Order: sequence, then C-alpha cells, then structure tokens
Amino acid sequence: MKKVYVRWSCCLFVIAGVNMISCNEGGVKKPTPQADAAGTENPFYVDTAKIPAGKYGDAIRYGRDLMMHTAYLIGPEGVNGHYTNNKMNCTNCHQDGGTKPYSFNLQTSFRSYPEYRAREGKVLSLAERVNNCIMRPHLGRPLPFDSKEMIAFMAYLKWIGDSSKVTKSTPGVKPLPIEFPDTAASSVTGALLYGSHCARCHGLNGEGMMRPDNVTYTYPPLWGHQSYQPGSSMHRIIKMAQWLVANMPYDSATHLKPVLTHTQALDIAAFINNDAIHQRPFVQEFQYPDIEEKDIDYDRGPFADTFSVTQHKYGPYPPIIRYWKDRGRKR
Ligand code: HEC
Ligand code: HEC
Repeated sequence: MKKVYVRWSCCLFVIAGVNMISCNEGGVKKPTPQADAAGTENPFYVDTAKIPAGKYGDAIRYGRDLMMHTAYLIGPEGVNGHYTNNKMNCTNCHQDGGTKPYSFNLQTSFRSYPEYRAREGKVLSLAERVNNCIMRPHLGRPLPFDSKEMIAFMAYLKWIGDSSKVTKSTPGVKPLPIEFPDTAASSVTGALLYGSHCARCHGLNGEGMMRPDNVTYTYPPLWGHQSYQPGSSMHRIIKMAQWLVANMPYDSATHLKPVLTHTQALDIAAFINNDAIHQRPFVQEFQYPDIEEKDIDYDRGPFADTFSVTQHKYGPYPPIIRYWKDRGRKR
C-alpha cells in the first residue's frame, strides 16, 4: 500500500512540474486561469471538470447550467419550466456563473446566508435571495424551495465556494470601490459615452441583440420592457457603475485595466437608469421598512436625511456620505 502511495505522490509532483514548465516558455511565465504571470494563485478559480459524480454532482452541474443558460431552461421559452419572464441569463450580471471577481461574485454567498437584508428588513435565506433575482432582474415568479431548480442553485452556490480559495475578504468578492466626483452623474454626458462605448453591442435603443433562435441574447438588453425592473440592484447608479468599470465594454475592460473612468461609468449608469428617458417594466412595490437603512443611491423616497430623491439617485454623493458619517453611520 505504502509503495502505491509514494508512486502516486511522485506522479502528482511530475504533473505539477510539467505544468510549471508549460507556463514558463522562454523564461516568461504566461498567465493561466489558475495563476497570473507572477505565479500568484487565482483564488476565484474553480475547475468544473472536478464537479463530483453522483446526485450532488448532478445538482451542481444543473445549477451551473441554470446560471449560464437560464432562459433556455426556465425562461419564457424554457424547456424545463417558465419561471423567469425575460430572456436574460444569471451570468449576464454574475459573469462566469458567479465566479468572476468584481462581477457580483457569488462564491461566498452560501457561507454568508442567512443574512439580514435592509430591503426586506429581515433575515433572508439564500434561497429567498435567489428568488429576489428571479423576480426583480428577471421579472419572474419565485422558484418553489423544494424544486429541482432551487436545489440545483443551492448545490452550485455551495460548490463554487467550497472548491475555490475565496474568502469574504478576498478583493473582488465585493463590488469594485469607486471614487465619487463632487458633481451629479450626468445622463447627457452618459448618452454620448454610451454611443461611443456601448451601442455597438447593446444597440442604440438599449435593446441588445437576440440570438437567431429567439430564446436568449447574444447581447442582453439594458432598458425597455425586456430588461431588469426598477428596484433591481443594477438600477442603482453606484452599483451599476462599480460593475461597469470592471466589466464593460465586454471585449476590452478588466478590473485591472478598466476602459471607463469612475466618473464616466457613473454618467453612463445615469443615462441607462434614467426612467424619464427609458422605459422599464412597471413595478409597484418598493421596500425598506426602516428608511434609515435605505441605500443612498436608491431612487424612491422617503429618505431619513435632508437630501432630495434626485440627489440620492444621481449624486453628488459625497455630501450624503458625509451627512451620515457625522451621525456615526457608514453609508
Ligand atoms: C441584471 C443583473 C442581474 C441578473 C440578471 C441577476 N442578478 Fe443576482 N444580483 C444582481 C445584483 C446587482 C446583486 C447585488 C450584488 C451586490 O449587492 O453586491 C445580486 C445579488 C445576488 C445574490 C446575493 C449575493 C450575496 O452574496 O449577497 C444572489 C444569490 C444572486 N444575485 C443570484 C442570482 C441568480 C441565481 C440569478 C439568475 C436567476 C441572478 N442573480 C440574476 C444582479 C443580477
Ligand atoms: C463587445 C460587445 C459589448 C460591448 C461593447 C459592451 N457590452 Fe455590455 N455586455 C456584453 C455581453 C456579451 C454581456 C453579457 C455578459 C455575459 O453573459 O457574460 C453584457 C452585459 C452587460 C450588462 C449586464 C446585463 C444587462 O443587460 O443588464 C450591462 C449593464 C452592460 N453590459 C452594460 C454595458 C455598457 C454600459 C457598455 C458600454 C460602456 C457595454 N455594456 C459595452 C457585451 C458588450
């Protein structure tokens, strides 16, 4: 027995050695999904080839499929049910199935929940939180907690946490911190920037580009009745700007090499989320039972401070942040 063990470890050592060499051609290391050029390990890396066999593995695989191909499986044309009511996919916002840093990463979610949510004013389970995204950005109806789909989402969210090295403090789990200018975000400037940076994929009318099969998009929509509803977190200007800096334009921006400045991202987010110029699905329900806990860039009053609803939505944000800081609250 012992001999076999020794041989195995040698074998693994050799495999690891070969990997090292392959990343080291001509003395220059190439970045891989597992590590960057300096050899620093990528804590977000998950190897989907290592999803286990058996019932748990089947649920994880189905959960990943649901993240990547939401519309095909449970969208309006879904082959396994009709839960989401637009043709977007979870991975459009939680990129790489929730494993990309600074893209509303989901690798610590399984460990974090149940969690207190100001929006509902109560502790939510992870399944309830998943249903919030099914209902708001996807305009859908909640998945039953014992459905094959909800069980699969839970299995997948657990696995992407367990099989990576991400902790709650790993940079990239939380959205990218951005700096706020002393001026309000401008949807007029945002419109011009949108034309030069975004319209080639998302369309001049924010409609995105449908795939030929009409089931889902090549480029998801940014406004209109097929897009996320007001009250989705993506509808908040700060939240969207943090995501845009790290992720858009899709073919050129990374969090290490952003294309947009922070101010430009805020301006574009102000343009996309300006409901006076763009239509969205209608929603009646706006929450936050304790208005003191309302996020500062939420766009429905009342607020517990002296700033207007317009200033909350578009900024300038520094005076609001200072107001709450003076009262001992971090916003
Ligand atoms: C339009 C964009 C968008 C889409 C589509 C979307 N989400 Fe989200 N989701 C968000 C945003 C924004 C947040 C809040 C992130 C934050 O506050 O940092 C969020 C939060 C979450 C969270 C809570 C994460 C945490 O740790 O607190 C879960 C779980 C989640 N989404 C799952 C899903 C699932 C599953 C789908 C597909 C059915 C989905 N989302 C589709 C934008 C989206
Ligand atoms: C090269 C094409 C391309 C360009 C240019 C581009 N995007 Fe995207 N965008 C995408 C793709 C593809 C996705 C879906 C990502 C995925 O599924 O992994 C996406 C997703 C999004 C989403 C989240 C999903 C949704 O529809 O709400 C937003 C918001 C967004 N893009 C905004 C922008 C903005 C703003 C710009 C300009 C600064 C921009 N994009 C430029 C291709 C593009």
